[in-house]
Amino acid sequence: MNPETIYFKTQFGEMYLCDALDVMSSLPSDSINLIVTSPPFGLVRKKEYGNVDANDYLNWFKPFAKEFHRVLCENGSLVIDIGGSWEKGQPTRSLYHFKLVIMLCEEFGFHLAQDFYWWNPSKLPTPAEWVTVRRVRVKDAVNTVWWLSKTPYPKASNKRVLQPYSESMEDLLKNGYVAKKRPSGHDISTKFSHNNGGAIPPNLIAIPNTDSNDSYIRYCKNHGIAPHPARFPSELPEFFIRMLTDKGDLVLDPFGGSCVTGEVCEHLERRWICCELIEEYLKGAIGRFSTTSSHEYEETAYSITKPGALWNENTKDTLPQDGGKKRPQ
Ligand SMILES: C[S@@+](CC[C@H](N)C(=O)[O-])C[C@H]1O[C@@H](n2cnc3c(N)ncnc32)[C@H](O)[C@@H]1O
Repeated sequence: MNPETIYFKTQFGEMYLCDALDVMSSLPSDSINLIVTSPPFGLVRKKEYGNVDANDYLNWFKPFAKEFHRVLCENGSLVIDIGGSWEKGQPTRSLYHFKLVIMLCEEFGFHLAQDFYWWNPSKLPTPAEWVTVRRVRVKDAVNTVWWLSKTPYPKASNKRVLQPYSESMEDLLKNGYVAKKRPSGHDISTKFSHNNGGAIPPNLIAIPNTDSNDSYIRYCKNHGIAPHPARFPSELPEFFIRMLTDKGDLVLDPFGGSCVTGEVCEHLERRWICCELIEEYLKGAIGRFSTTSSHEYEETAYSITKPGALWNENTKDTLPQDGGKKRPQ
């Protein structure tokens, strides 16, 4: 790659102010261990960096898909964080992100290693029209995260991402387990009382996206730079970087934005490449490497209330027979 196009360089990584397709075209085949990224989503309400229309999304994505497959190592992974979208003017969902994963598998030869769901507990109730005005949908608080691979056996270990045991599991480890059948009929044998150093996480990842006062934001404020409007929380790429790469491996974020991926890689001693088209975002991204970044893990666990905790059918209201077609007064 032409070193003159490098916007910023650190001990482990490089940022490019450049179309990701140009950067990838200069990378050798089988050279990247992990691509972890959040591409522009196919949105109805566009962000300032210009989103692609959900209807054109697959065509827009194809050249990236081809290059992702070429540059990835045989045992590498492609992790795509992608939010859903609504059909314009009506309370129904676009299928574009499902079509994307089907296209990547059926046309480009990827395997779906696992589907993940990133739940953002601090997500506002949107889209307001359907959720808070007409009250005919619930808030949309999960992004899909497609973990894809070139073969069915990408290198991976869930031992890298264990979570603390629940209180009841801690008790069980301390006091032992009386073997009995679960409601599912499974016989839980004594091996469940073995301490494996932590619980295996589910494919639902709970991370609030609330870093409004972190060192990146402070850096942007102090330097008069507009922060990136759609950053993912660092724990999201961190989960996959830890689980799917070793120290010294090479990680690519083609739609780098404010370079969260680069910052995580720098801490974890993975080599990294981030590409971004808009210079303002890279100006802010530099702040991630020039200050001692502080990251506070505000909460460690979230509980999800069972749906039955507050059934509200004791009102006189009947359901809107028109499904919310007419706006309430
Ligand atoms: C959803 S944002 C990524 C945000 C990033 N994960 C973060 O946390 O800061 C997508 C980014 O991709 C950039 N982008 C869009 N097309 C691109 C391309 N062809 N090459 C490089 N970057 C591109 C957009 O400018 C936008 O900043």
